[in-house]
Amino acid sequence: MQVKIVKTKEEMGQVAAMLIAEDMAKKSPYVLGLATGSTPVPLYEALIKLNKAGKLDFSTTITFNLDEYVGVKPTHDQSYRYFMNEKLFDHININKKNTFVPDGMAKDIDAHCAKYEAMIRGVGGVDYQVLGIGSNGHIGFNEPGSSIGSLTRMVKLTANTIKDNSRFFKRAQDVPTRAISMGIGTVLRCKKIVLVANGANKVDCLAKAIEGPITATVPASALQLHPGVTFVITEDAAAGLKLEW
Ligand code: PGA
Repeated sequence: MQVKIVKTKEEMGQVAAMLIAEDMAKKSPYVLGLATGSTPVPLYEALIKLNKAGKLDFSTTITFNLDEYVGVKPTHDQSYRYFMNEKLFDHININKKNTFVPDGMAKDIDAHCAKYEAMIRGVGGVDYQVLGIGSNGHIGFNEPGSSIGSLTRMVKLTANTIKDNSRFFKRAQDVPTRAISMGIGTVLRCKKIVLVANGANKVDCLAKAIEGPITATVPASALQLHPGVTFVITEDAAAGLKLEW
């Protein structure tokens, strides 16, 4: 595992974008795994900049998002499909038909999850997966206690995550309580992974994920098992690390 400590979230976005861009140059079609949340936004801004400068081409890129709320329509302004269109897809030369986000309105959620996994496998797996981390250590919506071998499935959100996400909804009771999420096992199958994090509220979960024991109670600690993981984190978020990275 590599840990890159940077000063600002803008730098975090640029460093992570360069890792992805360098890898994308080696393969086409390229399969990119994407995440939502506030943290990846500077990364998406950096990818858009590279695309607009003609340095990064998305015309053959296929994307899979980590997760989506159950019961939220893709047109809802808090859906993760809406977020991805607004923060990335609408600004780059990607074919939206090649962008996949789990369907939170699927009638048969279990069948949809199995199909999502099969689709990822069908295109040869994810080449680079972007991750954020929840303050409770979750990756995707794999909350503490999630099995390290888990695959895409419906999950219940914890009270902590509902509280963290309530800032995006008018009322706490509007925050969805269930989601579809790639599993930790799905993430571990990705060829490379970059986790971005900034802010003092991530100090504790990053220290546990990077230097603590591998445990289901800190889902991001499972990344220690993966040989191709890079954490790109800001100084304030790295304050709890003990080792020299
Ligand atoms: P955040 O969310 O980027 O909005 O902090 C991260 C996450 O929950 O994965």
